[in-house]
Amino acid sequence: MPGAGADTTGVEESIALLSSFMSNDSTTEIERHLRALVAAGAAGDRLPSTRALVSQFAVSPLTVQNAMQRLAAAGLIETRPGTGTFVSARPTITRSDFSWQTTALGSMRTGHSVVGTAMSLDSTVPIAMHSAYPSEGLLPQRLIRQALGRAARRSPDIDRPLLGGMPELRAYFANEIDANTAARASGISSDDTIVVPGSQSALISVFRALAQPGDAIVMESPTYWGAIAAARQAGLVIVPIARGSQAPRAAELDEALETSGARLFYAQPHFANPTGALWTAAEAASLLDVIRARKAFLIEDDWAHDFGIDAQVRPLIWHDTDGHVVYLRSLSKSVSPSLRVGAVIARGPALARIQVDRTVTDLYVSGSLQAAALDVVTDPGWRSHLVRLRESLRVRRDTLAGYVVEHLGAETLTHLPKGGLNLWLRFDDGVDVARLVAECLSKGVSMAPGAEWYPAEPPGSFVRLNFSGPHPERFGEGVEVIAAALASRRALDGRKGTP
Ligand SMILES: Cc1ncc(COP(=O)(O)O)c(C=O)c1O
Repeated sequence: MPGAGADTTGVEESIALLSSFMSNDSTTEIERHLRALVAAGAAGDRLPSTRALVSQFAVSPLTVQNAMQRLAAAGLIETRPGTGTFVSARPTITRSDFSWQTTALGSMRTGHSVVGTAMSLDSTVPIAMHSAYPSEGLLPQRLIRQALGRAARRSPDIDRPLLGGMPELRAYFANEIDANTAARASGISSDDTIVVPGSQSALISVFRALAQPGDAIVMESPTYWGAIAAARQAGLVIVPIARGSQAPRAAELDEALETSGARLFYAQPHFANPTGALWTAAEAASLLDVIRARKAFLIEDDWAHDFGIDAQVRPLIWHDTDGHVVYLRSLSKSVSPSLRVGAVIARGPALARIQVDRTVTDLYVSGSLQAAALDVVTDPGWRSHLVRLRESLRVRRDTLAGYVVEHLGAETLTHLPKGGLNLWLRFDDGVDVARLVAECLSKGVSMAPGAEWYPAEPPGSFVRLNFSGPHPERFGEGVEVIAAALASRRALDGRKGTP
């Protein structure tokens, strides 16, 4: 098997190739024309007026302005009001000396490749199955536009909000813990809730607030790459415990906490990213018992709360009265990736420590975004949107799983997740996933290599395929590309093996 470095380069080259191909493809004719003028011209040269370009290309003034704006954003041109548009002055230095920074910065806490493919790769790949963000069609678009418009019109929403967040939004997140439960209320209130700009920043705040650099943190393995990166960024040492389609074993958690001295256990009990797996109620109860006995915290990342398909989420914090569970929830996937709003719920001194870290990091979350998010989730249309969303996710999941079984074999599908946005696939052990991913990407199909979800070496050849992004009509084509790439790899390996 070639070294990891060689594989990474293969993926990067393909990404670069593909993005240059795609940006050319989407560049308008007029933008290409302007870029050519800029390239041929000198700093200060005047470009044709909007009116001249409108008549030359027979397009609307808006199209010309959009092209101009893109060039201005790239620093290639500058507009002087009342005078015209000119080629910008370009820096003449082509080789700066940054070598002093090597000594000044020292070694890296996290590597360059710390950001997972799911986030770092552009989602304009023709069949993008690497990114776990639902496509626009699965978002409550009408509610979002309406809510953003209203938030812009109401003056309190553009004023400075309270540090912990808008009281009504905090109450919404707190009440969600008791939703769908006929039994007793959890006792969780808006006072236990802090509004955050997405759960990624909440993760690092929680890690920093509840542990010191050098401390250990137990994590399920595989788990969310962003949690692995945040823990390392906070200076924590990750102690992985194995998780497949089942929850980690309570005895294993107990041993990991005891031997490492960790007081934090980060976990995704519901539809975990990347596997989509779910803890059963019995598994959850025994893991919570260990947490209590060890006087530790369970950091419950409920990222997929709104994505239950065959099962609904009952947050574990509902069972906790003594502040052992710190709960994270986000709306950035189910409402909109542009409305980055979420919440942390915690009790006791832990809550106060997390609030301090949040304030020091971000001060507060934009009031307009909070107001818009609250508007969406309290609109009567939100509940019906969630019902439709679940049905669409079911159809997408089953369609993609069907193609996987047909073209890649039933043994490739680790299990059919009861919720979430992804399928978790396992290939034969000899499959070089990095090469396979790079090869598929060069054919316009992206997937996320499994190794990125492991804090240590992956115990097999895994990939994550997202079923909420590309149009289901293209699932079959996407899986066929993967099957063909696998077959050609096998043929190549077979030839290499022949004496
Ligand atoms: C498991 C998990 N937690 C947290 C996040 C961060 O989400 P956000 O910061 O968008 O709320 C993600 C995003 O993919 C995730 O998959």
